[in-house]
Amino acid sequence: MLKKLFSKKDIEGAVKRLARSIEKDFHGEEILFICLLKGSFMFTSDLVRKIRNPSRVDFMRVSSYGNATKSKGEIAVTKDLEEDIKGENVVIVEDIIDSGITLKSVSDMLKNRHPKNLKICALIDKRARREVNIEGDYVGFTIEDGFVVGYGIDYAEQYRNYPEIYVVEPE
Ligand code: IMP
Ligand code: MG
Repeated sequence: MLKKLFSKKDIEGAVKRLARSIEKDFHGEEILFICLLKGSFMFTSDLVRKIRNPSRVDFMRVSSYGNATKSKGEIAVTKDLEEDIKGENVVIVEDIIDSGITLKSVSDMLKNRHPKNLKICALIDKRARREVNIEGDYVGFTIEDGFVVGYGIDYAEQYRNYPEIYVVEPE
C-alpha cells in the first residue's frame, strides 16, 4: 500500500529552497550538475530549471550489488560521465542517501578527478541505516526510515512516473 508522504507542493517548495541555497554558494559561476541515474532524473530536471547560474548537466549511473530494498557494499559504474569535471563546480544530484555507500563511493571517485568544488544535493536524507560518514550539503527532506517511491524513485522499476512521493507500507 502506498501512503502519500510529500505532495507536489512540498516537493516544489523543497526544490526552490535547494536551488536558492545552491545559487547562494556559487555566486553566478557555472555549475556542472551530475544526475545520478535513474532515481534523480525528475528531481534534477526540476532543480536545474530553478537555477539561474550558467549550468551544464551530465549523467552517471552506478549500481550497488544489493537487492530491491537494501543496497549493500560495493558499487559499479555502469554509465560514466561524458564531461571532464577537472576544475569545475560540481553538484552531485541524488534521490536518496540511505546507507550512504553509493554517495560516498561516487564522491570519492569524483574527487580523484579534481573538480574545483564538489557538493552533494540529495532530495531525501534517510537517517536510520547510515553506515558510512557522509552528509548532503543540500537536503530536501529528512526522514528517519521507510521505503519511498515516486517522483523518479522506484520499487522494482515501478512508480517512477508518480508525481508525488509515497511511502510503501505493508498490506
Ligand atoms: P545507499 O547506497 O544505501 O545510500 O543507497 C542509495 C540508493 O539506494 C538510492 O540512490 C536509491 O536508488 C536506493 N534507495 C535507498 N532507499 C530507497 C527507497 O526508500 N526507495 C527507493 N530507492 C531507495
Ligand atoms: Mg539511486
